[in-house]
Order: sequence, then C-alpha cells, then structure tokens
Amino acid sequence: MTATTFTPRVFSGIQPTNHLQLGNYLGAVKRFVEMQNNGIETVYCIVDLHAITTWQDPADLRHATRELAAGYIASGLDPERSILFNQSQVPGHAQLAWIFNCVARVGWMNRMTQFKDKAGKNAENASLGLYAYPSLMAADILLYKATQVPVGEDQKQHLELTRDIAAKFNHDFKVDFFPMTEPVIEGTATRVMSLRDGSKKMSKSDPSDASRINLTDDADTIAQKFRKARTDAEPLPGTIDGLKDRPEARNLINIYAALAEQPPEAVVAEFAGKGFGAFKPALADLAVARLSPIADEMARLMADPAEIDRILGNGAERANAIAQPILNDIYDIVGMIRSRPV
Ligand code: AMP
Ligand code: TRP
Repeated sequence: MTATTFTPRVFSGIQPTNHLQLGNYLGAVKRFVEMQNNGIETVYCIVDLHAITTWQDPADLRHATRELAAGYIASGLDPERSILFNQSQVPGHAQLAWIFNCVARVGWMNRMTQFKDKAGKNAENASLGLYAYPSLMAADILLYKATQVPVGEDQKQHLELTRDIAAKFNHDFKVDFFPMTEPVIEGTATRVMSLRDGSKKMSKSDPSDASRINLTDDADTIAQKFRKARTDAEPLPGTIDGLKDRPEARNLINIYAALAEQPPEAVVAEFAGKGFGAFKPALADLAVARLSPIADEMARLMADPAEIDRILGNGAERANAIAQPILNDIYDIVGMIRSRPV
C-alpha cells in the first residue's frame, strides 16, 4: 500500500483565559503569523471549549475570547488569509472529541503532565473535561487533518498523544485516514521563562503580574517589569556557553533575540561584557517598540466587539466547510448511520 499524502495544513489554538502574555506572543502567535505569511493554509482557533475545563465567568469568557481575537489580528493575523474562529462555533470539535474519548486509553490520559499540574493535589475534584482535555485537542487538529501544529515547548506531550490517537484510529479501523501531525516547536522563544523565577515558564495564570509581560501592558509597566526582572550580578558573557548556568540571563537574551529577530549569538556578541544596567533598558525599549503598536491596535479593535464577532462567525463558517466533510467520513468509518434529510 502506498502511503496517503496529505495536503499541508497548519492548525493551532490558544485558550481565551486571562490576557495574552509575551510567552504566548513569541512562542505561538508570532509564529502563527510567520506561517500564514509563508503561504501555507492556516487555521487558527480560540479554544473556548478548552477554557471551560476550569471555571470561567461567562462575561469574562466572552471578553477574553474577543480580546484574544483582537490580539491575533493586531499581531498580523489576517482573517482573510488565515481562518480565525472560536472553537464552539464549529460543532465538529466536540463531536470528534467524543469519538476520540473512545479511542484514547485511560492510561494515556494518566500520563499527561498538564493535567497533573492543573489539577494539583485535589485531582478528585477536577472536572472530567480537564481530564479529557487532550482528546479534545487531538480532535481540534485532526478535524482538519492538519499536518503541522506550531506550539510552545509545553504542548509537546499533547501532540505526541494526538499522534497516538491518530495511529490507533487508523489501525483499529484499518484506514489511512489521519495524518501523523508534526509539532512545530522552533525558534528562540519556545519556552519563555518567568521574570521572577528562571525555572518557571511565563504564564497567564501566574499569581504575580510582575512575572510576565502582558500584551496589554503600557510602556511604563513594561520598562518597570524588565527593570525588576530577577538576574544575577555578573556582566553578560561573550558567548552562549557562558549562559549555561544563568537561566535568568539566558531568558532575557532569548527574549531580546526573538523580539529583534536575531540569533541569540548576535545578541550576546552585541552586549558582551555589559551589565544588566545597560541591557535591561535596551530590552525594555525593544519590547515597547514591538509590543505597543500591538496593544494600540488591540484597543482599537476592542472598541467594536460586533466586528470581532462578525470576523469569528465568518471564520467559523469557513472552518466548518473543511471540517464537516471530514467528520462525515469519520462517522461512516466508525459505523454511524447518517440519514437525516439535509
Ligand atoms: P495557553 O496560554 O496555555 O493557551 O498557550 C497558548 C500557546 O502559547 C501554546 O502554544 C503554548 O505552548 C504557548 N506558550 C504559552 N506560554 C509560553 C511560554 N512561556 N513560552 C513559550 N510559549 C508559550
Ligand atoms: N492546549 C493548548 C494550550 O494550552 C491549546 C490548544 C487547544 C491547542 N487545542 C489546540 C494548541 C490544538 C494547538 C492545537 O496551549
């Protein structure tokens, strides 16, 4: 049998919870835009069904969904060239997730580190949805037979599970239906670390606001957060090797490199021998120059929520046009009768 070739298609998603932070921007959104600009078909989702695996106030969820849409667009995502939508408007995501709940094994879910981290000590009291989260994520990707998924480092395990689900489905039903999706974890910012603790990733949900740069922070706040960022007392080294045991310094260099679109080697060469007293203000200026146009554009877009909703609705229509025929094939493969008049 010759292997099926799958049309290249990119899919990725972000949860509409809290504000977008610099790690989301550099590790995900910025790269989504680069892939769009490379001419490949790109489908980008606001995963509101994933968001409710932990409690969300309904009004806050609506606001965060629109704000994330604004963040995507302000960062350069073009809703004509890419497909941009919120997950719940395409019912196939939840439908395929159910089928995948019956393909994935309990043992696989028990190994997911994100569940362990998010459920914490009180796993008995976590929602069933939080446990099944990776199965919905596999459905997001495979509903479009996506071949590439740009994400940050923390999502690697979920993408391996997606491949396991695809392989088991293909095997159980003796088909070559789903592609083996490739994670795309590239660049200098696949794991942006907290500004307060170089061993923790920067996160929307960290209780300390000083630990992260939010895309909505103003110039003064950005400068102040970098000024207060934890570092050691040494001057910057002349080579990347010199950053090995200096996680905080390495993180700031990587952030600079990603924002400047330069290799970290070039940044180290530029600042070799200088102290943080010189480097931090340069980093803050660069971050403000890159991020403040995005914040301004987000604010402009947020002034017209009806327009954002219209964009999401159109995107959902286009996403559904790809998804529905694939879902029909899946139902046929699984043995579901589809005889409802259309
Ligand atoms: P989340 O905010 O968890 O929905 O993450 C959305 C996307 O941003 C995923 O692709 C994550 O891997 C990525 N991401 C989140 N935090 C970071 C970080 N600190 N560094 C790099 N990528 C990140
Ligand atoms: N789990 C991802 C996160 O927390 C979000 C996500 C949901 C996703 N579905 C996806 C990412 C599909 C890539 C592809 O960041």
